[in-house]
Amino acid sequence: MTLLDIFPSLRTTMTPRLDPALWPVTTSHDDRGRISIGGVALDDIADQYGTPTYVLDEADVRHRCRTYRAAFPEAEIAYAGKALLIRAVADWITREGLSLDVCSAGELAIALSAGVDPRRIILHGNAKSATELRTAVDAGVGRIVVDSLTEIRLLASVAPRRQKVMIRVTPGIDIHGHHAVTTGVDDQKFGFPLSHNQTGEAARLVLEQPNLQLVGLHCHLGSQIADVECFRSAIARLVGQMAYIRSDHGVILTTLDIGGGHAVPYRPGDPQTDPAELAALVDDALDEACARNRFPRPQIVLEPGRAVVARAGVTLYRVVSIKTIPGGRTFVSVDGGMSDNPRVALYGARYDAAVANRHPTGRHTPMTVVGRFCEAGDILAVDVSLPVDLHPGDVIAVPCTGAYHHSLASSYNGVGRPPIVAVRNGNVRELVRRESVADLMGREIGI
Ligand SMILES: Cc1ncc(COP(=O)(O)O)c(C=O)c1O
Repeated sequence: MTLLDIFPSLRTTMTPRLDPALWPVTTSHDDRGRISIGGVALDDIADQYGTPTYVLDEADVRHRCRTYRAAFPEAEIAYAGKALLIRAVADWITREGLSLDVCSAGELAIALSAGVDPRRIILHGNAKSATELRTAVDAGVGRIVVDSLTEIRLLASVAPRRQKVMIRVTPGIDIHGHHAVTTGVDDQKFGFPLSHNQTGEAARLVLEQPNLQLVGLHCHLGSQIADVECFRSAIARLVGQMAYIRSDHGVILTTLDIGGGHAVPYRPGDPQTDPAELAALVDDALDEACARNRFPRPQIVLEPGRAVVARAGVTLYRVVSIKTIPGGRTFVSVDGGMSDNPRVALYGARYDAAVANRHPTGRHTPMTVVGRFCEAGDILAVDVSLPVDLHPGDVIAVPCTGAYHHSLASSYNGVGRPPIVAVRNGNVRELVRRESVADLMGREIGI
């Protein structure tokens, strides 16, 4: 018999435990009941840097990198920088043995300034400009993923020396996710469909360019893929296509990049991708596909973004006001919102939230955490369990905010973007400073 059986009232009064699947690996409570990450109390960070603030747990990022490296000792893991690319993250992931996928000249500049070896960089994008392509080839970027016939010709015209290239393929696989992040189906803007020999035509065009070297095929099926079976079909179709290219052109492609899209949990009970399970499936699928096509095993590349950084991030907000609508919900307004987390408005994403600055004593009840911006859809977390004695000034922490938050943030309503601080072994350091009104005004050069 447990204490809860003896005193059932404890069920409503006890502090809900933080779900370790959602929070950074170093999360704990200090003796005052405050949440701390990397040995630093979030309440102290809120006091020092203000709110909203993105907190990033370096140990968590490194832990995810190591988990991937252990699960895929022979594959190349290219972190997808679009999830969160700042110099510190570029430094951590390369030190952990990952390479890097970038999708613009801006991301490339961040990577290079962090000292990433350009040969370990892959450049993506469906509308790269001539300047971006030239910048990338001049920098010595390892591989460029081409996305259209126009781009193949453009790249050939700007590459001063032999440039390695992969072709982005849409293998006709529907992950049944949100339409905005379903990128493996034929009828969308990315890549070349396998149907109507469009990929074959792209391969022929690349192979005709003396300064382009076709090394492999690439696909990215979408995001938040928890059922990894779709990667089996992708591998089967892409290896089949590699076999066609061999028979049509006598060329053996050696790289097969199956993209990212591995799921992370945002709320308790959400599914997540297990890298070890994925590794076993990839191995099996490669065995099958290569045997069927009598094709030599290609080098696998994976591009996880969210799965590397999402759980390392926690965003801190301060409660501004609390309002209960008679017969309706209780709204907790905080000092951030859709400009630092547009994912709720964009994808209908759901988040968890917890009080970070104290022991949340007392009964808990469902509340909806909303932002400060001029949109009714400016919501951060719907029906999360928060203490009834929540009050203005309390610090709310939203977990799993390391991916596609800073990188998607805006200055909507003239509110500057939050800073990013990293925590590690009891120390905190600012990596990106808060965007000030002066920064916003600094771009205004005319009237
Ligand atoms: C080409 C490519 N690779 C990798 C990723 C990373 O996806 P995720 O962060 O879901 O792993 C994306 C995301 O859009 C992508 O477009």
